[in-house]
Amino acid sequence: MTTIIAGKGSSKYQIHIKGKKFSKAIFNKDIGKNNKVLIITDSGVPKKHIRKIKDIISCKKINVLTLNQGEKSKSFASFQKIMNMLFAMNFDRSDSLIALGGGVVGDITGFCAATYLRGINYIQVPTTLLAQVDSSVGGKTAINVPQGKNLIGSFYNPKFVLISTDFLKTLPQEQYESGLGEVIKYAFIGNKKLKKIIEDNSKKITERNEKILKTIIEESIKTKSKIVTKDEKENGIRAILNFGHTFGHAIEAHHGYKKITHGAAITMGMVIAAKVSFFEGHIKDQQLENIISVIKSLGLKADHKKYKYSDLRKYMKIDKKVSNGQLNLILIDKNFNAFKTSNFNNKNIIKALN
Ligand code: GLY
Repeated sequence: MTTIIAGKGSSKYQIHIKGKKFSKAIFNKDIGKNNKVLIITDSGVPKKHIRKIKDIISCKKINVLTLNQGEKSKSFASFQKIMNMLFAMNFDRSDSLIALGGGVVGDITGFCAATYLRGINYIQVPTTLLAQVDSSVGGKTAINVPQGKNLIGSFYNPKFVLISTDFLKTLPQEQYESGLGEVIKYAFIGNKKLKKIIEDNSKKITERNEKILKTIIEESIKTKSKIVTKDEKENGIRAILNFGHTFGHAIEAHHGYKKITHGAAITMGMVIAAKVSFFEGHIKDQQLENIISVIKSLGLKADHKKYKYSDLRKYMKIDKKVSNGQLNLILIDKNFNAFKTSNFNNKNIIKALN
């Protein structure tokens, strides 16, 4: 087992990366025999994963709430349902929520934990690659509202994160590739070791080799935990985690957040951001080609031809990185370090997209 620490002071937490076997001890530290547990999961999570977690926890009462799979469950209605269940179970501050699933389950469970009795413990057990390398680490919790995605939420760290490569064996291919998009992102924003590992092991990665999975998850989390520990509330450096996201979110919004996975959209977003970096003179053409070839080597799509500037412009205007009316972009330099800038020529975005 590998353990990585994230967070500061009293909100410090451990991220355990494991293979198939878990020990009771992992949960016993935070869940006592007199405590209650509510596992929040969704209809896409195989029942055997739920049983596996249920079976190793010894406590007074353990219930499971299964939400419908998909972004629609990150709603006020689900929030209310979970709250009602916590009241019905008579949850107190010594009891725990467990998020067993992907980003949707993690975000809503974390938000319920942050707000019930002004804060109770929660544990992240992410079952998708995307949640393992991104959303389960960093304490972002939220629900969606008609006005937009993730607009109500808080920063609230889990008690610990338990990642198992075993969950990835049952993950649909599209979801696996979506997670790989985020893994590649860490390679392009500064983790040179990860970039080399991906370049040398693309076949093993596409075959979901367990050893290589552990390595790429570990490297991804090392980068993410370092950044979120430095800048918990996204006032500075954390913004670089959004490399490719301005264009990627615009692609997702263009599709109404349907028909394309988050990772597929941000992978194309990274190609567009790399092209803007190139036209701005920050990287050379070999680096741009290198980025595209790393993406393609994992079987991911780099071709963004079908998205025109006119399709994406309106969504870019409402990007969270707009401040004082000015769009900020995350670009990269010749050493594969990412930086946030408002100093770019809009013509280069148009050129990158056309
Ligand atoms: N997914 C980006 C972040 O956690 O800041």
